[in-house]
Amino acid sequence: MKPTYYITTPIYYPSNKLHIGNAYTTIACDAMARFKRLQGYDVYYLTGTDEHGQKLQERAAEDGKQPLEFIDPVVDWIKDLWNKLDISYDDFIRTTQPRHKDVVQKVFQRLLDQGDIYLGEYEGYYCVPDEAFWTETQCKTDKGYICPDCGREVKKVKEKNYFFRMSKYQDRLLQHIEANPEFIQPESRRNEMINNFLKPGLQDLSVSRSTFDWGIKVPSDPEHVIYVWIDALTNYISALGYLSDDDSKYRRFWPANIHMVGKDILRFHTIYWPILLMALDVPLPKQIFGHGWLLMPDGKMSKSKGNVIDPKLLIDRYGSDGVRYFLLREINFGQDGIFTPESFVQRLNYDLANDIGNLLSRTATMIEKYFDGVVPAAEDAGEPDDSLISLAQKTKGLVEEHMEEMRFSNALAHIWELVGRTNKYIDETMPWNLAKSEETKGRLATVMYNLAESIRISSVLIQPFMTKAPAKIWDQLGILGNAEATSWESAGVWGGLPAGSTVSRKELLFPRLDVQAELAFIDESTAEARRQAEENKKKQDALKGEPAVSETTANQPEATQAEKPADAKDEIGIDDFGKVELRVAQVVECAKHPNADKLLILQLDLGYEKRQVVSGIAKYYTPEDMVGKKVILVANLKPVKLRGEMSQGMILAASAGDQLTLATVDEGMPNGAIVK
Ligand code: ME8
Ligand code: MG
Repeated sequence: MKPTYYITTPIYYPSNKLHIGNAYTTIACDAMARFKRLQGYDVYYLTGTDEHGQKLQERAAEDGKQPLEFIDPVVDWIKDLWNKLDISYDDFIRTTQPRHKDVVQKVFQRLLDQGDIYLGEYEGYYCVPDEAFWTETQCKTDKGYICPDCGREVKKVKEKNYFFRMSKYQDRLLQHIEANPEFIQPESRRNEMINNFLKPGLQDLSVSRSTFDWGIKVPSDPEHVIYVWIDALTNYISALGYLSDDDSKYRRFWPANIHMVGKDILRFHTIYWPILLMALDVPLPKQIFGHGWLLMPDGKMSKSKGNVIDPKLLIDRYGSDGVRYFLLREINFGQDGIFTPESFVQRLNYDLANDIGNLLSRTATMIEKYFDGVVPAAEDAGEPDDSLISLAQKTKGLVEEHMEEMRFSNALAHIWELVGRTNKYIDETMPWNLAKSEETKGRLATVMYNLAESIRISSVLIQPFMTKAPAKIWDQLGILGNAEATSWESAGVWGGLPAGSTVSRKELLFPRLDVQAELAFIDESTAEARRQAEENKKKQDALKGEPAVSETTANQPEATQAEKPADAKDEIGIDDFGKVELRVAQVVECAKHPNADKLLILQLDLGYEKRQVVSGIAKYYTPEDMVGKKVILVANLKPVKLRGEMSQGMILAASAGDQLTLATVDEGMPNGAIVK
């Protein structure tokens, strides 16, 4: 019997169309699922949608719709996105399906019967967008009550509620986490969960709500709906038929090998979920992996900022392979990474069009020209053949090693090392010279075989990441449908390409892109989102009775060349200016100042050292906006304490009236670079 492998994505809220950040998790899981299938595992890949909760009810009401009337088209849109991305999921669960609701109700009733859940009164704060509960001390700030996770306003709630006795299981969970280092990955996040949440002690969790009704009812008390996170997390077992008439999938696939989630929801998955399972006497998943965020150059993607990119636009223009490749290659999976249109277009051009696309088309052209399109057998060996062959033979092992640890980018880097080595092999062997004389025909045959064989190996190895290119390459190499020459195992063995295969050159694998034209296209594709964000902001400001920022500035007369502005300064010489040391610094962490609502505390990476800077920008930027930005720091400013916090420098921003924009530089500029 094949070993099993069960992998899950978070189930997404269908409150909006998804953006490339959501697609990122799903693509990563897909690469993993495909990799395991290729290795011979019996894989089950689950994804779906999380359809209950206050946020969705409110969102539907805004559009004047019933919840499902609003949700159904979004779910169709999401399924279409997964289709376009070739996501190979085995099941798509919707939490509004009866198969799921039944299980959630049974689970709740059981916990109530066994005394793990009891009725009490809840008083505290609720973050609707995150559907998370907080205590007063966790969310009280100068500015009011704010969600410590996302920075948005929380609602005060006081209601009769059911509670889950979390604390009863906390020691067992801590022991489990400590005894199983692979349970929470990466390592840094594991420590965060232990130190920030488990060690301080858990409070009983409120697990029902009675102030809205869009949810699964508590069976014995239908005035209450079950808390959306208890509902949502249960999807991982309800989808397998746990507690249902047919639980064969549950017996076959549970415990999950991996729940892949963004770091924003790691706490729910590593604390609430395992405790729920312990109470049910169900084995725990083997691993929960919390990956980083995909950021935009101006911070985290969000609809309200209008910096979201619609993944369908990218797929329609650049193909799913390009989008999948970019996300898995560009970003180090555990860490945050930035999507810049420049790096996207460059990777498609360099890695795909040049490196692999060109290699294939050059090789196919030469085999057609020199050997009438028939792959010759190799006739001799030596250098540089041997070094190419030995690299090709060890690449599969390296890819497997990195994939086991979810290091998608490293795995791809090894495949591209082979692709690069193969391109270099053409330069070293200069086939066009070998073709000039009959005497070197044997050598030319060897070179052609080695090129084609190396491409075959690369094409087999890229299968977890790209879904369309492999078959296109096999078609051109004449091995499409040849199960042996395209099997995963065959990537570890040199010589799998049969001599005598017929090569046929087809359209280019990846077309070369015009950088300027594509940057303009991507910019235009986000313009609508920006316009909408601007409009919403105006509306909100109008509601608050404050003038919209853009209106005040629009009414300001433009300064003419002739008259100096009132805040003009005296002329200085270049050496006065030279006294100021300006450097590029990247924001690696950011938090609100505990005692001043105008200030943010930034941790900056200068390349050669770390700095803390306090900056008066809290009105314009949230901490999550800031992380990842490359700003300009006045690096030789005398340190000062601002409201009790050390500030070692100052960051530059443009301001006019009510507006403020930070001066930022392109992501490619190294930290510590001088600005002058
Ligand atoms: O939290 N970068 O759903 P959600 C990377 N329904 N990944 C991102 C991202 C970004 N910028 N933005 C979102 C929920 N994600 C719950 C989950 S699970 C039982 C219930 C990804 O629609 C990331 O995986 O808010 C994150 O955890 C998930 O989308 C959150 O999706
Ligand atoms: Mg979310």
